[in-house]
Formats: sequence, structure tokens, C-alpha cells
Amino acid sequence: MQPRISLVTLGVADLARAKAFYQALGWNLSGASQPEVAFFQANGLALALYGRSALAEEAGVDDAATGFAAISIAQNLRSEAEVDEVYASALAAGAKPLKSPRATTWGGYSGYFADPDGHLWEVAWNPFFPLDEAGNLHLPQQAEPLEALFNAANEARARAYARYSQFTVGAAVLSSDGRIYAGCNVENAAYPAGTCAEAGAIAAMIAAGESRIAAVLVTGDGPELVTPCGACRQRIREFASPETPIHIADLSGVRRSFRLDELLPFSFGPENLGAP
Ligand code: THU
Repeated sequence: MQPRISLVTLGVADLARAKAFYQALGWNLSGASQPEVAFFQANGLALALYGRSALAEEAGVDDAATGFAAISIAQNLRSEAEVDEVYASALAAGAKPLKSPRATTWGGYSGYFADPDGHLWEVAWNPFFPLDEAGNLHLPQQAEPLEALFNAANEARARAYARYSQFTVGAAVLSSDGRIYAGCNVENAAYPAGTCAEAGAIAAMIAAGESRIAAVLVTGDGPELVTPCGACRQRIREFASPETPIHIADLSGVRRSFRLDELLPFSFGPENLGAP
């Protein structure tokens, strides 16, 4: 069987109510819809709404009242803010709130609501599963080695030369080939001539002959998130994509993850100079 999903059909108690709900979420009712079935074009597949008794009959199953249907449909979004927005608009359209969006144990951000028929929807931001322009999800070749990135950054941080600020930072970049390069901040008596941890990690990657960044992790101590400075955002930008995850850790682990284009929106890059 070819791995392909073409339609997701939801059995609904009241077709008009269900149609109104998905239209209120901003989904466009397709002209292909008929009185007894509504279609909505999604990214490369369609959502169908069909009377639940008709659906049960068609499939040859009993339309008994169900409890938990044990299936959820997810819509992945491009940022935490977008998850909050979609969740709020679903509630405004009459969805039942199940779990307000929050940070997840797997490093993303997600919430759950139920449509008027109780179908579970997850709205999520997953920094590890990139979405293309069309909104299609692309599973990465392999799981991101978050722990290895954290350990590499932390080991580098322990060797930081932060004689003047006493603020030690470690960074690790994951290359597109799956290798990890680490760096730490290196200061000197002429303060502005020091270099950031990210710059060190990127230099190590380039020196090893690689030039694409798949993920970045920065670690440092303190109550504030140790996000890359402005100049380092631009350094990362040169070798990364808008959706490249940038994980910010403290000494015990990742606290928050961003996409590069969240930290550096509308950025200037090699394309501006006509480079491929
Ligand atoms: N620093 C980094 O290495 N990376 C960051 O993301 C933020 C700041 C360093 C630069 C300097 O050595 C010290 O932290 C204080 O600014």
C-alpha cells in the first residue's frame, strides 16, 4: 500500500453545525460538496464531513454511541503564536477546550480541542518536523539528537574562556550530515574582540568541510533565556533555513525552542546577493 492519506472523513451528528464550525475556522467549503457530504480542500488531502449514521452504514458498522474514539487529527503550525491563534479561533467557533496550548515534553508546543461532534484535534508546533511552503509535513531523516547536542554544548561551555564577563556559554550545531560541532565563548582583554560560542561552533563546522546547519543548541546559566546575540543570529542565518530549530538550554536542559525566522524575521541572506 502506498503511504498516502487522501481523505479524512468525520462522521457528524448535525452536518450543518459541523460545516459551520469548520467554515468558522477559515476552511473553504469545496464546490464539490453535496447536500449530504461536505468537502474541504486541505494540503494535498481533503477533509470530509458526513452524517455519522450514514458513515456507519456505509462502512457496515454499528452506529453505537462511542466514548473515546482513540484517534486525533493534528494540524501542525509554524510557531507557538500560531498555535495560540488557531486554538483561540477554534474556541470562538464553538470547539470544546480540552488542553490549552503549552510546552510539551517532546520539545514542542501543543493543545487539544474537540469539534462539535467530539472529534479530537491537536494544534501543535513541532520544531523537529519542518513544514514546507504548502504546509506539508516532512519527517526528518532521523530524530534530532537533542541530548547529544546538549552534552556537546555543555562540555564546550565548561571550557569557555569568559574571564571578563564570567558568563560562560556553550553552543552546538548539528550539520545536515548529522555531525555535531561545539564551541564556547572566548573573551580577551580588548572586550569587543571576543567571540561568541555560536561563532566557535560554526567555525568548527566550516573547518570540517560542512556548510549546512540542521539545528542549533545554546546553553548558558541564569534566569533569562540565553538566546543568540544579534550578530550570531545572522551567522546562523548564513548556513541554516528559516525553519531551523534553535534550542535554548540552561544547565539542566532545553528550556525553549525557536525557529530561526522567529529570532531573525525578514532576514537578509546570501539570496539577496544573488547567491543560490
Ligand atoms: N555570548 C555567547 O557566547 N553567546 C550568546 O548567545 C550570548 C552571549 C557570550 C559573549 C560574551 O563572551 C558573554 O557571553 C557575555 O556577553
